[in-house]
Amino acid sequence: MDRRTFLRTTLVGAMAAGVTGNAVAAEIYFPTKVDKSLFEGINRVKDPTSKTPLEKGHAPVITAPASVKAGEPFTVEVSVGETLHPMGPSHWIEFIELSIGNEPAGRVDFQPRGFLKPRAIFTVVIPKDTAPEGKLTLLARQHCNLHGMWEGSFTITVT
Ligand SMILES: [Fe+2]
Repeated sequence: MDRRTFLRTTLVGAMAAGVTGNAVAAEIYFPTKVDKSLFEGINRVKDPTSKTPLEKGHAPVITAPASVKAGEPFTVEVSVGETLHPMGPSHWIEFIELSIGNEPAGRVDFQPRGFLKPRAIFTVVIPKDTAPEGKLTLLARQHCNLHGMWEGSFTITVT
């Protein structure tokens, strides 16, 4: 092989390897196609009687007493999904937030290392006069890196 042929072959080979390498790198960093419409607003369960797999996996599930007394602490558990959402380096829950009525109450942030499951337990106290009509809505939101923001609600009676 003469010098010119060697250089031409090497150059074409390097270019082909570069293009292939970039495509492989893109798949590593962006492994999943994302539905951008999920990031246009807050997603909610549309029909509770027939949830889609995406809704079952992402809508926050709130577990709380149906009736609480003002001024006394109670526990609110927020889980992401009916079966807990996966937590891995390419697909994970970034945070869970809880609002009491319209007031943001707290937030838990998660890292994509897989150590934590997407479930948070909050100890809540409803001050007197916060729910003059006797009802209050708990709102939970979570954000999935691939499937956007999801919200769930749970109404409690406050006596
Ligand atoms: Fe997700």
